[in-house]
Amino acid sequence: MREKIIVALDYDDPERALEVARSLAGRVGWMKVGLTLYAMGGRAVVEELKRLGYRVFVDLKLHDIPHQVAGAVRALAHVGADMLTVHASGGAAMLAAAAQAAAAAKTGGVRPSIVAVTVLTSMDAAGLAAVGVARPPAEQVELLATLARDNGCDGVVCAPSEARAMRALLGPDALVVTPGVRPSWAAADDQARIATPEAALGSGASHLVIGRPITAAPDPVAALERIVEGE
Ligand code: C5P
Repeated sequence: MREKIIVALDYDDPERALEVARSLAGRVGWMKVGLTLYAMGGRAVVEELKRLGYRVFVDLKLHDIPHQVAGAVRALAHVGADMLTVHASGGAAMLAAAAQAAAAAKTGGVRPSIVAVTVLTSMDAAGLAAVGVARPPAEQVELLATLARDNGCDGVVCAPSEARAMRALLGPDALVVTPGVRPSWAAADDQARIATPEAALGSGASHLVIGRPITAAPDPVAALERIVEGE
């Protein structure tokens, strides 16, 4: 369980993020650095998390021309990222460039995994239609996940409700990373569709991204331990 939990360090203060990471060191395998924390703390935050013994998921949702994305993957791998996100809608050439750059770059002997974002969960059918996608969201998710798989990506980020379909589509070895995870005792916050850790894993998730139930708890260590114990 500890190796399947990715704590989302959604802070705009790198010192606060690292304070929480230090308190959890040795208890959980992964930390996630998103756009806000990366904008404030950059590579120094990733490097410090690596020194603390974490594997680091750098969630910058890359989406650019293949040359730029390949360069960013190489750079982030060099900094120590163990997992990276790209937007599958960047297309086949971009996805393949990301996968090739990851394969060429070894981080601590293990190449970084590339996981694809399909349709943002903030997009609904109307939002997709407004950017010219007439297909229903669930079909668009499958189309983009297939494109990511066929171009060398290691898996997808998806809602717990999509995990079963993604596992069936992508096979047993794929990474299926789900946010929107809440233990039964935690508040939903702004997550509309949530699942417990047990349910998300039962649906086929390989990794659980969990933020506020841990990071906003009065005692993040106690909150993590409750989750690990299956409470
Ligand atoms: O605090 P919470 O557990 O809701 O944090 C979830 C994390 O997963 C955040 O970093 C959020 O940006 C990310 N995420 C999400 N829903 C998605 C994709 C990413 O909540 N569809």
